[in-house]
Amino acid sequence: MLSIPDDIVLRGTKVILRPMLREDVDKRWNWKQYPDPLFSHYNPPPMNEDQKEVWFLKRKSDISALWFSIDNTPGQLVGFVCFYGINPQIKTAWLGIYLGYEFVDLGMGTDAILTLLQYYFEEIRFELLFLDVASHNKRAIRCYEKCGFRFNRKKYSDHDPRMNIDIFGDDRFKEVRKYFLKEGNKILVEFDEMQITRENWSCMISSHGND
Ligand SMILES: CC(C)(COP(=O)(O)OP(=O)(O)OC[C@H]1O[C@@H](n2cnc3c(N)ncnc32)[C@H](O)[C@@H]1OP(=O)(O)O)[C@@H](O)C(=O)NCCC(=O)NCCS
Repeated sequence: MLSIPDDIVLRGTKVILRPMLREDVDKRWNWKQYPDPLFSHYNPPPMNEDQKEVWFLKRKSDISALWFSIDNTPGQLVGFVCFYGINPQIKTAWLGIYLGYEFVDLGMGTDAILTLLQYYFEEIRFELLFLDVASHNKRAIRCYEKCGFRFNRKKYSDHDPRMNIDIFGDDRFKEVRKYFLKEGNKILVEFDEMQITRENWSCMISSHGND
């Protein structure tokens, strides 16, 4: 198990990362909704108070995950980022992140990840970080590349049932159809697995230092 101080605060230039609080779960419902159906699973589903409590406790009690809330510098909650599948023995983990719709494309995702990577490689001295990103999600891929992640391999996973969309029938999706596969009744989504090693991180930091 990874032991992290309860009051940890990581400061970037545009964002501040801190432990996720129960009240953040409510704040998430104030964010604007993603209008693009391909991102609708990032919109919070309707939940009553009990379900919100369960959502929060499930994440807080998972000893293989570590969730941070992301605030902008005025202190507004803009997103969440987490390590999951943490393996302290071999010092690896996976990264997940999402911002509220009105906060994307402002450099805050990149800043949050770079801040977390510094903590991951330099403070807790982990070795390797993975992530999975839907191949059609070019904004996320660009953000991860800016943070030093490199493509590892392609993989396919079940289409998120929360995305109730007709990829192959609806022409709004004709540009992204190539990133989906039909297998019988099932729709599979193409993902890029990406990774960053301690060595990649060190090279990136030293080359930026020479700018
Ligand atoms: C993915 C995410 C965390 C990135 O954070 P962000 O703050 O929006 O990203 P940044 O502003 O730091 O960087 C985005 C980059 O993508 C570029 N970009 C935006 N849309 C793009 C597109 N359609 N194609 C290619 N690049 C795109 C931006 O121009 C920017 O690159 P630049 O700095 O070279 O101009 C955020 O957009 C998000 O939460 N998205 C919705 C949820 C999600 O996709 N989560 C990731 C799941 S794996």
